[in-house]
Amino acid sequence: MTAVRPDWDHLFRRARAVARHAYAPYSGYHVGAAGLVDDGRVVEGCNVENASYGLGLCAECALVCALHASGGGRLVAVAVVVGRDLDDLQPGKPCGRCRQLLYEAGGADLLVSARHTVGELLPDPFGPDALR
Ligand code: THU
Repeated sequence: MTAVRPDWDHLFRRARAVARHAYAPYSGYHVGAAGLVDDGRVVEGCNVENASYGLGLCAECALVCALHASGGGRLVAVAVVVGRDLDDLQPGKPCGRCRQLLYEAGGADLLVSARHTVGELLPDPFGPDALR
């Protein structure tokens, strides 16, 4: 398969668009994530909160579900945007749990918000290799 190159403008546009669908009535904090898959697809996710606060789902978690639900593959690049004002969303960083999810779906070389690799965000990770 030919290597795909991230179009960051496109990924951030998609992340900002999907953040508008976030269900965040408790935190008021909207998160959108858009990821490029190694076959060229783009998958998305937004955060979905719950009245039972601890059950809320992060945007990156939804993105990883969308990755598998649409056929799987490996993530190459993920843009994450965050904020309270939907018209002023800024590039964001995934929480610890989401770093782990992204590591599983894309490995240490996966690029996040054009700033970091997952390897930088999650040093010395626990991952699939540990279970082989
Ligand atoms: N959130 C995400 O969607 N992704 C993260 O990586 C960090 C946090 C969401 C969860 C919750 O709905 C809101 O942001 C505030 O924590």
